[in-house]
Formats: sequence, structure tokens, C-alpha cells
Amino acid sequence: MPKKLFKSLPDMSKARNRVDMPTLRRDEIVVPQEVEAFAKGRKFFIKTFGCQANVRDEEIMAGYLELAGFSRTQDHGQADLAIINTCAVRENAEEKVYGEIGKFKANHLRDKRFTLAVCGCMMQEEGKAKELIARYPYINIIFGTHNVPEILDLLAEHIRSKKDLVDILSFPGDIVENLPSTRLDDYKAFVNITYGCDKFCTYCIVPYTRGRERSRAVSDILDECRKLVEEGYQEITLLGQNVNSYGKDFGDGTSFATILEEVAKLGIPRLRFMTSHPWDFSEDMLQVIAKYPNIAKCIHLPVQSGNDEVLRRMGRRYSCKDYLDLVDKIRRIIPDCALTTDIIVGFPDETLEQFEDTLTLCEEVQYDGAFTFIYSPRNGTPAAKMADNVTDQEKHERFDRLVKVIEQGVSAHAKEMVGKTYRVLVDGPSKKDAGMLSGYTESGKLVHFPGPAQLKGHMADVRILESHTFSLIGELVEDPWITLARDLRASLLEEPLAKEYFACKRQVEEDPGLIELRKKIQDAQRDMVRFAEAGNDVGYAKAKKAYKDAQDAYQNHPLVQNLLSAGGELRNELMTLMEALS
Ligand code: 5AD
Ligand code: SF4
Repeated sequence: MPKKLFKSLPDMSKARNRVDMPTLRRDEIVVPQEVEAFAKGRKFFIKTFGCQANVRDEEIMAGYLELAGFSRTQDHGQADLAIINTCAVRENAEEKVYGEIGKFKANHLRDKRFTLAVCGCMMQEEGKAKELIARYPYINIIFGTHNVPEILDLLAEHIRSKKDLVDILSFPGDIVENLPSTRLDDYKAFVNITYGCDKFCTYCIVPYTRGRERSRAVSDILDECRKLVEEGYQEITLLGQNVNSYGKDFGDGTSFATILEEVAKLGIPRLRFMTSHPWDFSEDMLQVIAKYPNIAKCIHLPVQSGNDEVLRRMGRRYSCKDYLDLVDKIRRIIPDCALTTDIIVGFPDETLEQFEDTLTLCEEVQYDGAFTFIYSPRNGTPAAKMADNVTDQEKHERFDRLVKVIEQGVSAHAKEMVGKTYRVLVDGPSKKDAGMLSGYTESGKLVHFPGPAQLKGHMADVRILESHTFSLIGELVEDPWITLARDLRASLLEEPLAKEYFACKRQVEEDPGLIELRKKIQDAQRDMVRFAEAGNDVGYAKAKKAYKDAQDAYQNHPLVQNLLSAGGELRNELMTLMEALS
């Protein structure tokens, strides 16, 4: 009996298919008995490579495994189940995966029941799974990006059959809701709004590894975000390979502007999104970004190249002029908007002049940040078949020249920030200096500043003192707890019950009948004092009656009753909140 069971292997022609429509699944999560028994007292370890889509898959896999009873370890040696979540976007991402797999040989030798699983985008490439199995016979389970919701079933089958499994679905992909999830951070979160990509840029493997572009329902996204707001999250990043396409598949006018606005209205302190394709960036989106103060004024807008011919061969569907017009429009509608980008150098047959056009574009745009990459051919993509006469050395030289130009723009923006104050979401003690905290501004700038470690996960106002190319040094502008108290007061004032209470209070203060009654009460009080001092018992009794009548009329007035009832409800809510916080 063979020890390996190939259930399905990737097929990039199937992955290219865009005919089948996605199915919406709301599975009930069932933990198979074998997995529950195996998980008892055992630990899992996950190592993720690549982008935020993979990070989100890690959180979902961790959710399933914790539900089954596993606990988590960050230590390779302690792992009873290890999952390596791979990236396929460039070759160097793949090389790191081989090194990671090698680290688990010792676990396998020590414990025959140790289970090693490899998943993610790299597995969706034809031939990769077979290559890995031949090279690392101690891999037990290989699965693809579309199999993540089946992780517990795969584990059960492996335990039951004692076979090593390969199950990599290649299809345009489903939308699966009701996914469990253990988030890596408790103050910033990623929320998928679309899956997959239909752009098929000629160099890119993503449309094959992650399937067709498909949008999650508005209500599912809002439910997830609302829960995060209630749990006190400070930042949400809406995720998609190309967020601008959100809602196009519904065909009912729902767009990215719709979901962005709806999420912003939930009141999350900071809302981000990525990635935006320059091709279908609508003015509506810009208006929404400009309108809501909690939407970060920061747009990641990959340009990839500054030459029209290269853009055409990349299949990007815009020209440099289109791109620069969009940059102008963004800066006109959102004047302080930070712009970041992705650029590939050394695309097949890119000439020196074409590369220098990219430098010119970068000098013109002056990005706040950029991810720069040397082109890496990906099997199965159209660009991998293109002739390429650019040598490796030339590609590296171009890369170094590009990085220098990018750095100039980044430094110029950083210098402009010195002396100004920015709101920073604190990530905790800095990696390099434990005495300093670090965090990011809404424009995505890394700031280091001295402060208490307890500020992790909170917003703090920081004045910038010094700028370096990729980070800034600053100082807290006031006691951070005062800032927090002010923020808390501001958000309490936004609570519906608080709003109602203050509206009732205003009515009571401004109502002419009640103004008159308050005056009567005061006059009667004054008369009572006057008559008491003069020993005038009859006058005193009359003033006292006037006082009591006015008081009763005041207390029984419907507006005063409304105020008392709104005050009572607000008090109850505050007590509940305080109990929850204690
Ligand atoms: N080679 C180099 N860079 C690539 N990217 C995508 N595919 C490749 C490739 N084959 C870059 C693009 C994209 C980012 C996520 O990765 O710049 O925007
Ligand atoms: Fe890849 Fe282009 Fe899709 Fe981005 S838009 S994921 S670069 S195919």
C-alpha cells in the first residue's frame, strides 16, 4: 500500500478558468474525533511567508486548531504539528520555505506522530508538491489555498489512514463564511473584502494561486468589523488583491466606496485598505476617503513601471499619464494623502531608457514609501515565456539606483514631518531599543519615542523631533493617559444614550415654560428666606406653597421626566461599562 495519497494536484489551466461562479458556504464547524483526541496536550506552530492574505489564512488555521484543542507554540522544537504557509510571488520567497521545512527534521526523528503540513500559494504551482515530497519525505500533509477550511478534515484523514496526503484544489474558489479565527493582534486586524484576482498581470502568479476575484457580502464584512469595534480594536485594514473591484460581481451598484463608507461609519479609530489597482480607482472612493477622518489618508498604489511599453507588456491596462493624472486627482481631493507603491525592475527585455522612465516617474511622484522588486519569472505566467536580454547584474544595478531615488522622496516627506504632531498607534517597545516605543502614523511612517509599555495598542500624540529615511524619532506631547481619557470622553459622547441625554438636557434648558418655572422656584426660595428672617409666618407659608407648587410642576413636566429617564439609562450603561473594564 503506498504511504502517499494524492487526492488532487494543482492544474494552472483550471486555476485560470473564470467560468464557474463561486459558491457561498456557511459551514458548521465540526471537530473530527481523531483530531480532538490527537490535539489533547499537543502544540501547533505556524510559520507564514508572504502577504496579508496569507497572514489572514494563518489566523483562520489557528482558529480551527485552537477549537480542536491544540495550544500554540512559537518554538520549533516544541511543535507536535507544524504548518508552513508559503508564498509564491517571487523565487526568493520560495527559497526561504525550503530552509524552514529543514528545521523540522529533528521533530520528525524525535516523535513519529509529529505532523508537518505545508500549504499556501507555492503549493498551487504545478509540480511543487511532488518536488517537495521527493526532497523532504517527512512532510505529512500538503494542501492549497482553497483547502484552508478543510484543515481539520485533512488532519483527521491523515491520523486515520496513517497516509501522507496531498490535496490541492485548483478552481476559481468559493466564499466561505463562519470561519473561526485567532487574530495575531488584539488592536489591529485584517478583514478580507475580496478574494482572488482577475487582472492577470503577465508577471503575476496570484490569479492562479488564489482564484477568481470574488467579493464577500456587505453584511458579512460589517458583522466582522462591528465585532472588532466592540472588542476595542483600534485599526482595521480591509484586504483584497485589488480592493477597487469590490462589489463589481454583485452587479447592483455596490462598490468599494460603499463598503469603505459603511465600515468607516462603525467608528473604528483608524481604517486602512489595500491594495488599490490604478486602473479602476473611482472618484467616489476619493470622496469617501476625504470625508471620514478615521480613514487613513494613505493609499498604496502600485505603479510597477514608469514606461508605457513595459506597462503594456505587463498587462497593467493604464499608461503613465493615466497614473500621474490619478496621482494629481488624489492630491487635489486629499491634499495630505501619503502615496506608496510597488515597482518591478528588470521586467523581460526592459531597456535602460525604459528603466530610467521609472526613475523619472518616481522623482515626479515622490512616494512616501515603496516596495521594490527584481522581476522573478513565475512558471505558468505569460511573462515567464518572454525573451529577456537583461543580465542579473544589470537588474541589480537598476534596483540599487531605484532604491536611491525612492529614498530621496521618502526622506523629503520625513523631513517635512519634523516639528509637527502625529497620532501614532503604538505597537509596543521598539525591537532595537526596549526603552523606546514604536508605532505607525496614519501615513504609515514608523515612529520611535520614549513612553510606558502599557501604551501598546493605544493611540498616542507624538511630536516629531528627528527624521531618518525609514523612521522618525519623537516625544509624547502630553501625558498619554490624558489623551486616552479625552478620547474616551469623545467616544462616550458619540454613544446614542449620551447623545439622547444631552439632547434632553438642552430641551430642558431652553424650554420657555421651564425657564419660567425655574425663575418661580428661585423667587419663592428667596421669599422664604426673607419672610423667615422677618419672623413673618403667614408670608413664609405662602412662599413655601408657591415654592412647592413650582417644584411639583417642574418635576412633573414631560421634558424633565424625559431627562431623568435618559439620565438613568446612561448611568446604567456606564455602570455596565465600568464593570466590564474592571
Ligand atoms: N516578480 C517580481 N515582483 C513581483 N510582484 C508580483 N509578481 C512578481 C514577480 N513575478 C510584485 C508586484 C506586486 C507585489 C505584491 O509583488 O510589484 O505588486
Ligand atoms: Fe498580481 Fe496584478 Fe492581480 Fe496584483 S493586480 S495580484 S499584480 S495580477
